[in-house]
Amino acid sequence: MFDSKKLAAQLCRMLNGELAEFTLRQFPDQETYLRIESSLEGKECIVACSLNQPDSKILPLFYLCRLCKQLNASRVVLIAPYLSYMRQDIQFHPGEAVTSELFAQLLSEMVDELITIDPHLHRKHSMSQLYSIPCIVLHASGLISTYISDHISNPLIVGPDSESEQWVSQVAFSAGAPYLTLEKVRKGDMDVEISAPEIAEYKGHTPVLVDDIISTARTMIGTVRHIHEAGLKPPVIIGVHAIFAGNAYQELQQAIVADIVTCDTISHISNKISIANLIASNIRQE
Ligand code: R5P
Repeated sequence: MFDSKKLAAQLCRMLNGELAEFTLRQFPDQETYLRIESSLEGKECIVACSLNQPDSKILPLFYLCRLCKQLNASRVVLIAPYLSYMRQDIQFHPGEAVTSELFAQLLSEMVDELITIDPHLHRKHSMSQLYSIPCIVLHASGLISTYISDHISNPLIVGPDSESEQWVSQVAFSAGAPYLTLEKVRKGDMDVEISAPEIAEYKGHTPVLVDDIISTARTMIGTVRHIHEAGLKPPVIIGVHAIFAGNAYQELQQAIVADIVTCDTISHISNKISIANLIASNIRQE
């Protein structure tokens, strides 16, 4: 549903499934109308809905999942290639909502299983610390390594912060490339400071900056600045989840980069790496 219709059609073809017909629209007063026209009796329903911009999606998604059950679907599996609300996973200040937990409770009550790609697990180390339903966590690092091997010569994989080392090291290993990680201090939503180790020795390489989420792009822009200052070539930017809030994409283009590449977990003009096969091969058919 929403911008995941292409993924739903791809999965349908790959799994030899049936694409359900449904009508989802807003009444003039912005309330939701929903009707599922296909028969779901005894069938497993796979709902594809990436959860970027989640607040406007969650209520229609709730209606859809509940309706699937009311129409006697045997199971409802949610495929959310991008899973939102993973970052506020503790109370930083008294009185704050720990939205990671609340959102996880909501989704756990809506569906029987969740499949997602590279969720931003930070202080929580596994999905079971948040979600009470089975969760399949997939990783885009293999797809990113293949993209790098196929398209970029002499790459140097760069992670913007120590947290990114987990996937940057895997990507580098599979692509047979060297890697390094920088140090990041986030001072506010739009204020990110990056400090770099000695990177000048890699002047002959093509820097490939890899991160899980590109949201405001401040992290990537700060990293690109260091790459330029060190005299390295313009970098290729690779992100798993192309959030690109506001003008972030245009601002990142202006930072002088060789290319901006993302996985299609969120539909965006920069999508060049397809995740449909990865998901299809991990769907458990009952
Ligand atoms: C942070 O821990 C993540 O891995 C990303 O580095 C971060 O979400 C990127 O955010 P932004 O694009 O707003 O700098």
